[in-house]
Amino acid sequence: MTSSRRTFAIISHPDAGKTTLTEKLLLTGGAIHLAGEVKARGQARRARSDWMKIEQQRGISVTSSVMTFERNGVTFNLLDTPGHEDFSEDTYRTLTAVDSAIMVIDAAKGIEPQTRKLFEVCRLRSVPIITFVNKVDREGRPVFELLDEIADMLALDVSPQAWPVGMGGQFQGVLDFASGAVARPEGPSKEFLGQRDSNPELPEDVAENVELAQIGYPEFDLEAYRNGDLTPVYFGSALKNFGVTELIEAIATHAPPPRPQPSESGAIEPSRDEVTGFIFKVQANMDPNHRDRIAFMRQVSGTFKRGMKLTPSGLGKPIAIHSPILFFAQDRELADTAEAGDIIGIPNHGTLRVGDTLSERNDVRFTGLPNFAPEILRRVALKDPTKTKQLRKALDDLSEEGVIQVFYPEIGAQWIVGVVGQLQLEVLISRLSAEYKVEAMLEASPFATARWIRGEAKAMDAFEQFNRANLAKDRDGDWVFMAKSPWDVNYQQEKNPELNFSATKER
Ligand code: G4P
Repeated sequence: MTSSRRTFAIISHPDAGKTTLTEKLLLTGGAIHLAGEVKARGQARRARSDWMKIEQQRGISVTSSVMTFERNGVTFNLLDTPGHEDFSEDTYRTLTAVDSAIMVIDAAKGIEPQTRKLFEVCRLRSVPIITFVNKVDREGRPVFELLDEIADMLALDVSPQAWPVGMGGQFQGVLDFASGAVARPEGPSKEFLGQRDSNPELPEDVAENVELAQIGYPEFDLEAYRNGDLTPVYFGSALKNFGVTELIEAIATHAPPPRPQPSESGAIEPSRDEVTGFIFKVQANMDPNHRDRIAFMRQVSGTFKRGMKLTPSGLGKPIAIHSPILFFAQDRELADTAEAGDIIGIPNHGTLRVGDTLSERNDVRFTGLPNFAPEILRRVALKDPTKTKQLRKALDDLSEEGVIQVFYPEIGAQWIVGVVGQLQLEVLISRLSAEYKVEAMLEASPFATARWIRGEAKAMDAFEQFNRANLAKDRDGDWVFMAKSPWDVNYQQEKNPELNFSATKER
């Protein structure tokens, strides 16, 4: 049963065409019926909450969501990853919840910095990648150059599955290697409307290149792809609808069904009877008057039924899940159950946190959902000092959501927030004001970085005695060493070999 699920994300550099491709995938999958709907919905949402204005002003998407559609008996769960580089933490966690990814590359630009970063995250977890070279309706770089760049920069085998017949002004369609047919542009907008030429006469140079490519690059190999060693490469135009159907079909046929997930007690197989899953994202309700939030759970095993009781690892006692949100756009009847690979939205008031495991018997702990050491630290100062309590509540909430990390120093009353990207700070100030009515300012912090410390109680006590001015606790009450420089971290690590100074923390 689980084999009909394909849970995937699209990774790309901003502007490569992720939004356009998402829209076309949903259209082709029958999940939406009007182009433009993805963006239109985004705008309606943005209008509701103040901090969303940041998204609007900067023209970026900070939130991530799930889009599910069905096609030919396969259920696709597409997880949206925020494209802006500042939101890497959130994006990393979303990538822990997928089984494969599509990497979108702009044919004129090739591999860009953000593509590369996201690719590295996929590689860490051996997430298999299908490559889509977009915008071939425009002038792009030579195809061989693009293929070699992907192979060289990402150290991957590339296996072309299609070939653009000309680009830009010369664009005459896309050749599909498997069928030998060319999808042709039609009408004044030169879109693909379904016309395929099955005995195409290719221009001489194109025919030559195709022959060279088929000899020069490895054939598609399912195992190599699923191990993350080879990427099949498709060419197309999201805007003009070229290559979109081929892409969906490639995911249906090649992309892996739900994979086992690592846990403290070994990998949990999707075929396990009991329901298990983990929270990879928490999103506040878009309505600032209601404090409830939605936790996104990636289901790892079992068959979920509405009303089922699951125990979150962070809480220790079971909660009944009466109103799960499933993201099916098409088939409402499916909304009462969910399978391994699906994403369930669970409304809650802060009981569920990123990294929590949920299980029927409270006997599983998934691993691999790290917090990252912040790269930017700031002191939070209140404009109105009587608002201390509200500020603490807000900082606790927002750190639970993963918007920021918060550190409460052992000495001194000023709390410190940590982020991996500048934009998170703007979101923080804006949400403090809009949702918690707390006006705050951020000031330079004496610290440059933070490390979680672990060790035997005796060693910790000794360290604490001499370093109180540099110690803080995080939201969970875990010890954190606040360092003035990376040099400081190295120095303390060398001086205290019995302690572990870690740049990541797994809950
Ligand atoms: P992103 O989510 O990856 O940031 O990219 P998005 O889809 O928003 O696309 C970025 C720009 O590239 C958009 O143009 C979009 O229309 C264009 N685009 C996407 N796919 C293709 C393609 O296959 N061919 C061509 N020629 N253009 C493509 P824009 O003018 O910046 O935005 P808009 O005003 O059209 O929304």
